[in-house]
Amino acid sequence: MHSKIQEILKEIEKFSAKNIEDAEQFRIKYLSKKGLVTGLFNDLKNVAAEEKKEVGKLLNDLKNSAQEKFDKFKNDFESTVHSDKNDNDLSLPTDFIDVGARHPLSIIRNKINEIFSRIGFTVSEGREIEDDWHNFSALNFPEEHPARDMQDTFFIKKNPDIALRTHTSSVQIRVMESEKPPIRKLFPGRVYRNEAISSRAHCFFHQVEGLYVDKNISFADLRQVLFYFAKEMFGEDTKTRLRPSYFPFTEPSAEMDISCFLCGGKGCAFCKHTGWVEILGCGMVDPNVLKNCNIDPEIYSGYAFGMGIERITNLKYRVKDIRMFSENDLRFLKQFKSAY
Ligand code: DAH
Repeated sequence: MHSKIQEILKEIEKFSAKNIEDAEQFRIKYLSKKGLVTGLFNDLKNVAAEEKKEVGKLLNDLKNSAQEKFDKFKNDFESTVHSDKNDNDLSLPTDFIDVGARHPLSIIRNKINEIFSRIGFTVSEGREIEDDWHNFSALNFPEEHPARDMQDTFFIKKNPDIALRTHTSSVQIRVMESEKPPIRKLFPGRVYRNEAISSRAHCFFHQVEGLYVDKNISFADLRQVLFYFAKEMFGEDTKTRLRPSYFPFTEPSAEMDISCFLCGGKGCAFCKHTGWVEILGCGMVDPNVLKNCNIDPEIYSGYAFGMGIERITNLKYRVKDIRMFSENDLRFLKQFKSAY
């Protein structure tokens, strides 16, 4: 009897359960009515009277060990017990639900918004159907500027004053007309141009515009903000440079390049062997533009920048054909998974 008790005690100690089924096997084997421990209790009647007290105590200890072990198993697998019985445990993770994927342009737009929101920019949206004033005149475009040409702009036949906006810079005017500085905003949106559709150009695409107007805003502020953006978007090692450029609504104007990440700046076919790729236009808001919106350029100054979301997305994901973005091919779209 002693050795039997010892043997079973060892078995119980060694027993490990991976799930509730194992635990139940344990209970049946040792603690049920026909279980080994219960069996030993039945054998107690055959034990000599003088040994009964001692053996009885050993048996009780054995039973307690088995019960303790079973209780612990039960505790460990309790949530599994619930889920086996019914589906009411709301804390359990659900089966995977295929929610689809965000459009790559939305992912990049949200990422741009998020990067600028960290330094105080908020988002506004203008309108896609604009008048000449907001799209061109107030932005200091001269009467004969080629961007006004029928080639580039979709005008409404009945009223040549109305057009599909050619850039999100028009939202600068809408916001400055209706809000007082300080203005620190981002304007994402769709724009239209009368262009032949190819792998590199489309009749509609997307831009994000930035505008900051306040007292004492300088080109150094613009520079710092854009360099911060480039590093957040393309990585800490990204090099940046500003090149002088021209836009009617900014003075001075510049374009920003980032170092080509395909060749690391050494020069390759992608960057046309320059080591640099252009990502945006920018500059200090022209005093004429501020005046057009009744903001006094003697008191206020500001900077603006604008970038194509397709361009940034192409650079991030290396998409070679801009038409892919509007063809709704699920095989293409499902490749983009993101937190944004
Ligand atoms: N609107 C310009 C375009 O569509 C981009 C741009 C350039 C916007 C310079 C700006 C800027 O705000 O300052 O090409």
